[in-house]
Amino acid sequence: MSLDRSQKLTIAMPKGRIFEEAVHFLQQAGLQVTAELQDSRKLVIPVENAQLEFILAKPTDVPTYVEYGVADVGVVGKDVLLEEERDVYELLDLQIGYCRMMVAGMPDWKPTEAPRVATKYPKIASRYFREQGQQVEVIKLNGSVELAPMIGLADRIVDIVSTGRTLKENGLIELEHICEITTRLIANRASYRMKSGAVDDIAQKFMEVIPRSIR
Ligand code: PRP
Repeated sequence: MSLDRSQKLTIAMPKGRIFEEAVHFLQQAGLQVTAELQDSRKLVIPVENAQLEFILAKPTDVPTYVEYGVADVGVVGKDVLLEEERDVYELLDLQIGYCRMMVAGMPDWKPTEAPRVATKYPKIASRYFREQGQQVEVIKLNGSVELAPMIGLADRIVDIVSTGRTLKENGLIELEHICEITTRLIANRASYRMKSGAVDDIAQKFMEVIPRSIR
């Protein structure tokens, strides 16, 4: 039987913190996960004899690839969706990649007149402090944000906390809870209409993996 190319689905996968858990999820959903997807440095991985192709992207870029339609669907953390604000459909909460978005700081932290907050998530942080009616200067960093309060760059940080180990090992504590974060399945708006069969199929397979009690 020849493949219907119009229904071929490109899935953007996040290379990073949630990658292994996401690949395990795909396996559980019955998708053909090749060694190439797990081990190689290839960024485009077609799945032989299946109308499927994976692209491996930096997590923050997954919604961009999906919005522009070069990927039909994507697997991405809610933290990235809240920060990137891309125009995509959020189809499913996969209930994996659990963590929480927190304000953290040193235990002896005290409010200052011109508070500074360091974060990889400037939009989420700005939105949160605006809602709290607090004026802060948000400083964008690209990683290792826990450094900022330790060396005096900022009073507090906004970051995701998973096991809490990074905070603990750097003498920081959780101060305020912003929101819970899990991994989501997103879709390009046009693909959702034009490739509804293929998108529904994948969503259905994913739904089977999400425990019934939390669907
Ligand atoms: C994330 C996050 C924290 C850490 C939290 O960073 O920004 O630093 O993980 O995890 P934990 O609570 O289990 O210790 P990531 O590993 O993505 O690296 P980065 O700081 O370089 O962005």
